[in-house]
Amino acid sequence: MNHIYLDHNATTPLRPEVLEEMLPYMTAHFGNPSSVHWAGRAVSGALETARERVAALINASPTEIVFTSCGSEADNFALKGAAGALRAKGRHIITTAVEHPAVLETCHALEARGWQVSYLPVDAEGQLDLVQLESLISQETVLLSVMWANNETGNLFPIADIGEIARKHGVLFHSDMVQAVGRVPLDVKAAKLGLAAISGHKFGAPKGVGALYIRADTQLEPLIHGGHQERNRRGGTSNVAGIVGLGAASEHAARESGETIGQLRSLRDRLQAGLFASIENLHLNGSAAHDKRLPNTLNLSFAGVSGESLLLNLDLKGIAASSGSACSSGTLEASHVIAAMGIDPILAQSSVRFSLGRENTLEEIEHVLTVLPAIVERLRRISPLGS
Ligand SMILES: Cc1ncc(COP(=O)(O)O)c(C=O)c1O
Repeated sequence: MNHIYLDHNATTPLRPEVLEEMLPYMTAHFGNPSSVHWAGRAVSGALETARERVAALINASPTEIVFTSCGSEADNFALKGAAGALRAKGRHIITTAVEHPAVLETCHALEARGWQVSYLPVDAEGQLDLVQLESLISQETVLLSVMWANNETGNLFPIADIGEIARKHGVLFHSDMVQAVGRVPLDVKAAKLGLAAISGHKFGAPKGVGALYIRADTQLEPLIHGGHQERNRRGGTSNVAGIVGLGAASEHAARESGETIGQLRSLRDRLQAGLFASIENLHLNGSAAHDKRLPNTLNLSFAGVSGESLLLNLDLKGIAASSGSACSSGTLEASHVIAAMGIDPILAQSSVRFSLGRENTLEEIEHVLTVLPAIVERLRRISPLGS
C-alpha cells in the first residue's frame, strides 16, 4: 500500500467530477462574468447556478451567498464586516477559545482597534458551557461567533441552541462552518445564523474558493472594496472556475451526505476501536459522545511519544496524518485547542489527528491498524518523554 491520506481536515482531494465541470471555465468559457457581451454571458449563468447549489446545501437563498477566495476570507469578512456595520450599537464580541486562527486572529485584530472580545473556555472534552456563554452577553454585545465543528478535535458545538440564545438577546450569530460542510447536515435557518463561512477545499472543491452566507437582513461592511461584483458586497473579478467547482462539490455533498456520513463514521469508529484495543495509554482528545464529534475525525494523545515523531514515522510508511502541535523556534508548542482543554502539556505534545475522507477504504484503515501499534511501541522504548 503506497499512500494513505488521513488528513482531510487539512484539505481534501479535488473530486474528478468537480474538475470535469470546472475545465470548460478554464478554457473555452474564459469571459469576465461582469461583461455584457457573449463571452461574459457564457459564464455569468454558471456563477448563478453555483450560487443556487451552495445555497441549497445549507438551506439559504441564492442571494444570501457571497463568493470569497477561501474560508479565512469569509471569516474575516463576517467578523470585520459585522464589527464595522454594528459599531454604533456596541463593541463587544463573544467567541470561543478554540476557534480556527481565521477567527481568533481576526478577533485579536479587532481588539487592537478598540473592540472587546470574550473568549469562552471549553471543558476537558472541549465542549462549551452555554449558561456561561449566555452570562457573557451584555448591552454592548453585537456579535457571537462559534464554529460548527472544531478542526482539531472534530467536536460539534450545539449550534441550534446557541442560535436560540443569540436570537433571544438580539445578537448577530456567525458560525465558521468550514469543517462541517459535507460531514454533517447543515441548516443556517434552523440554526438562526446571520453569517456562516464555507471553504471549498475541505469538501472536494478546489483551493482558493469559499463563500459567506449573509442572511438577507444582516448588516455588513464590505471587506474587499472594488467593483460591483457580488451585488456590491465583494469587489474583485470572480474566480469563475473555482466557483463552478464549489457549486459542483456542494451539489454532490447535498446528494450523498447521508451515505458519506455513515461510511466515514464506520471507518473512523473502526480506527478508534482498533487503536484502543492494541495500544495502552491512549487518550481521546474531544467529546467521547458519538453525536458530539464529526464522523471523520479522531484526535488521540499517545502518552510517552511525541506527536511529531509519530507523524514522521507514519509518513515513512506512506500514511499522512497531522499533529496539533506546531514546531516553532525549536520548541514544540501544544495546539491552542488541546491547551484550552486543560490537557497536560506533555500529553498535549503527543496528540495526532486522523481525519478521514470519502475515498478512504476499510483496507486502508486495517493497514494503519497493523502498522501504528508497532511504531508507538518502538518510539515509547526510545522516547525521552517516557511512558
Ligand atoms: C475551522 C476552519 N476555519 C477556517 C479555515 C480556513 O479555511 P481556508 O483554508 O479556506 O482559508 C480552516 C482551514 O483549516 C478551518 O479548519
